[in-house]
Amino acid sequence: MRIFLDSANIDQIRQAAKLGVISGVTTNPSLVSKEGKVDYQTVIKEICSIVDGSVSAEVVVTEAKAIIEQARELASWAPNVTIKIPVTTDGLQAISVLAKDGISVNMTLCFSLNQAILGALAGASYVSVFVGRLDDVGHDGMAVVKDTVDVFKGYGLKTQIIAASIRHPLHCVAAAKAGAHIATVPYAVLMQMLQHPLTDVGITRFLADWKKVSS
Ligand code: E4P
Repeated sequence: MRIFLDSANIDQIRQAAKLGVISGVTTNPSLVSKEGKVDYQTVIKEICSIVDGSVSAEVVVTEAKAIIEQARELASWAPNVTIKIPVTTDGLQAISVLAKDGISVNMTLCFSLNQAILGALAGASYVSVFVGRLDDVGHDGMAVVKDTVDVFKGYGLKTQIIAASIRHPLHCVAAAKAGAHIATVPYAVLMQMLQHPLTDVGITRFLADWKKVSS
């Protein structure tokens, strides 16, 4: 499983990139707005210069024609921009046009296997299943990821499955076990994945023992 960082915060992206474990970034309008009044193009271009892999930038229009126009504009900002498009009738129309032009699309706000199948058939490179938001309303978000993995495998569909809306480290474990191609994780969760109290205890003990040898 690969890891994307789910953030529009430049400092977080720089820090995470230094670890050498992230191969992409996902943003959405809410994440960008958390950074205050920023210029969208500047932010996306800067993220693309930090990270080699796919950087998802979301469209903020709803009609097919407008989505296609905006997607082409976003795609011109950097070669590694992936266009994030919500799964709607207009969204699917736009995805199928853009995919034929070779533009990478991440179909977002996906909450069901049916939506994921439609995204794959329309030609999306990625579908983002929102695990946390499904869990929030009493559904099993990871079951949708698992079903999507099984069905895509069974039919040889090439679209990659992103476990999105990740809220805690156990979501990452479950996404990996479910066979998600990618988990897109907030910075805080990335740090939680790294930490283990026994690692800290172990380092303290090793260093203390080493002092006895060297003093
Ligand atoms: C990423 O692609 C999604 O936009 C993001 O994971 C949504 O997360 P949230 O449900 O915590 O807002």
